[in-house]
Formats: sequence, C-alpha cells, structure tokens
Amino acid sequence: MDVLKNKIAAAGERETSGLPRHIAIILDGNGRWAKRRGLPRTAGHAAGSENFRRIATYCKNIGVEYLTVYAFSTENWKRPPEEVKTIMKLLDRYLHEAIDTMERDKIRMKVFGDVEGLSPELQALVARTNEISQRYEGFQANICLNYGGRDEIVRAARRYAADLAAGRAGELTEESFGEYLYSAGIPDPDLLIRPGGEQRISNFLLWQCAYAEFYFTDTLWPDFGPKELDKAIAAYRKRDRRYGGVKDP
Ligand code: IPE
Ligand code: IPE
Ligand code: MG
Repeated sequence: MDVLKNKIAAAGERETSGLPRHIAIILDGNGRWAKRRGLPRTAGHAAGSENFRRIATYCKNIGVEYLTVYAFSTENWKRPPEEVKTIMKLLDRYLHEAIDTMERDKIRMKVFGDVEGLSPELQALVARTNEISQRYEGFQANICLNYGGRDEIVRAARRYAADLAAGRAGELTEESFGEYLYSAGIPDPDLLIRPGGEQRISNFLLWQCAYAEFYFTDTLWPDFGPKELDKAIAAYRKRDRRYGGVKDP
C-alpha cells in the first residue's frame, strides 16, 4: 500500500514540477565531435557511449522514469563497413558493461529494434538485458539498435495480422496496436531531444512521438551532459501541451 501511495505522491510531484516521465534522445553528432578533435569518427562513438551512461544515471537520479535512446538505425548500415564494425564492437562492450551496471544498480534496460539483424553474440546480450530487466522495477532505459520507426510499425502490423488470422486478436484500435510495438506498456515520450544540430526525426519513434515536445540543440551528443539536459527540461517546462485542445475553454 505504501509503495502505491509513494508512487501516487511521486506522480503528483512530477505533475507540479513538470518533469517529463519519458525522455527520448537521438544520439547524434559523434562523428563531428571526433573530427573537431582530429580523431577518427569511431572515437566519437566511444565518447558517445560513455555519455549515454552519464545521462542514464542522471535521468534516474532526478526521477525521470523512462529514457529511450537512438543508438543505431536501420539506415546506419549504409555507413562504411569499418565504421559499422567498430560500432558493433562498442555495442558489445557496452552491453556487457550495462549488464553489470543493471545488476549492481537494479535498473531495467531494454533493447528496441530488429535484433535478428545483429550478430549472434549481440543477440545473446540483448536477450540477457531483456531478461534481467524483468527482475527490477523503477527507472528503465531503452536502447534502440537496428531500429527504424517505419520498420517497427510494419512489423507490428504483420504480427497483428497473424494474430487476427489465428483468432487471437480483437478489433484494432490505437491502444491495441500499441501493444504490438517495441514500446508496449511504456508511456509515450514527453520530450524528444536531438543534439548535433539537425532538425529532423530520422525515422525515430514515429508512432510514439505524436505529441512529444521537440528540443533541438547544436551541442554534439558526447558534449550533451547533465547541464544540457537541465536546459532541455527547463525549455520543456515552459511548453504548453494542448494535445489538440484549447487551454482555457
Ligand atoms: C550518431 O553520430 C551515432 C550513429 C548514428 C551511429 P553520427 O555518427 O551520426 O555523428 P555525425 O552526425 O556524423 O556527427
Ligand atoms: C540518427 O542519426 C540515427 C541515430 C542517431 C542512431 P543519423 O546521423 O543517422 O541521421 P541523419 O542521417 O543525419 O538523418
Ligand atoms: Mg549523424
């Protein structure tokens, strides 16, 4: 009962403090960050991965409930094979570290994306992170790997069609369709942040960002620290979310 009461009190506080429950971030600008320092692009990916850990911990500490990051898109395979190879190696290392951190700090972490397109080693790590995350409650980080918003929607539609043909699915509604997405059971992002200077969505969370507030900054992802996140949250707090309605009818 106390747990429930605390949860309700925390939700009330969030409502008045205007803290987003769910923050989504497009991790962009790693390559340019490295180039500006005369380093190979891959050094930027390593710095970007470190920054993910820093920001995830910060989000957890300030009371954000969900953090979803875009780390590798279905379109990123178009990059030079050497770059893709290094990114995959880094992912392997960081997923290993993430598993240790999850077990130590009891945090949940899920992977969204077409996992079957990843190496068997990465697939095993992804399965392990998904399994560990079922043990814990509280803050959840979602990492989008081999993720594309259109791909996610098409896959969901296929799975719904299969369930319908098998007599397992009822009428299709926005709510029931949401259950077929990687983000099933998770509230939509309140705040979508894109560092790195570009102002586009690049196939990220197309369905879920229907009413997200967007925040763009020229700061490159490896430099986007807690202070930058505070600025984004401060900007978000000033937004007037109307969801198509009117504020003072
Ligand atoms: C984002 O950084 C990481 C991935 C897409 C894998 P980029 O590699 O896109 O960095 P820029 O945009 O070239 O600076
Ligand atoms: C978006 O960044 C994808 C990820 C950060 C994983 P990109 O660098 O791939 O996006 P574009 O090519 O600038 O749209
Ligand atoms: Mg980029």
